[in-house]
Amino acid sequence: MKIKSTKFVISNTDINLCPAPVFPEYAFTGRSNVGKSSLINMITGTKNLAKTSVKPGKTQLINHFLINDNWYLVDLPGYGYAKISKEKRRNLNKFFKKYISQRKNLFCLFVLIDSRHKPQKNDIEFMEWLGNNQVPFVIAFTKSDKLSNYQLNKNLVVYKDEMLKKWEELPEIFVTSARLRTGREDVLDFIEQTNIALEEGIKE
Ligand code: GTP
Ligand code: MG
Repeated sequence: MKIKSTKFVISNTDINLCPAPVFPEYAFTGRSNVGKSSLINMITGTKNLAKTSVKPGKTQLINHFLINDNWYLVDLPGYGYAKISKEKRRNLNKFFKKYISQRKNLFCLFVLIDSRHKPQKNDIEFMEWLGNNQVPFVIAFTKSDKLSNYQLNKNLVVYKDEMLKKWEELPEIFVTSARLRTGREDVLDFIEQTNIALEEGIKE
C-alpha cells in the first residue's frame, strides 16, 4: 500500500470524543518508550506526525491519524514505567482499557515489544487480557537495529516459546526498526489485506 495522505485528527482521553468509527482502525500500544510513535512515523513516512521522545511517557492521549482518507492509525500512551503520578496512571489505564475493549472499528491492535528484552510480565499479562476480551492483536518487535541477527533470532525464539506456554497459536509477528525502516512493507501489506477483508465482510 502506498501512503498518499496523513492527517492528524484529534487527541483526547475520552472514547466518546474519538472520531466516528466509520473507517478501519489500527492502534499501536506497548510499554513506554518501546517506539510506538517512531514506528507510526516510519510506517507513514513522516518525521513528526506522532511525537517521540527519549523520555518514557511522552504520549499521554489517544491520537487519531487519518491515512489515505480511509483508515485510522492510533498512537496510544505506553504502559509500564512512565514517570507519572499514581492517580494519573489509574485514569490513563481506565480510558486505555475502555478504548481497546469498546472501540467498534478497532480492527487490530499492534502490541509493540522491544526486541532486546526478555519476555516481561506486564506485556504477557496484557496480551492475556486482550485474549480474554477478544481483542484481535499482532506483535511488532521494535528496535531490531540494536541487535545482531543472531541475537534477534535468539530473542524471538525465547519470546515465542514463552507465549506458547499460554497460547495454542501465536499471533502474527512483525520485526521492525524505525531507524532502518525494517518491516514497513510487511505492516502496510497486513493493514491493506485486513482492510480488504473487512470490506468484503461488510458486503456479505
Ligand atoms: P511513549 O510515548 O513515551 O510511551 O514512547 P513511545 O513508545 O512512543 O516511543 P518513541 O517512539 O517516543 O521512542 C522512544 C525512544 O526510542 C526515542 O529515543 C526513539 O528515537 C527510540 N527509538 C524508537 N524506535 C527505534 C528504533 O527502531 N531503533 C532505535 N535505535 N531507536 C528507536
Ligand atoms: Mg509515544
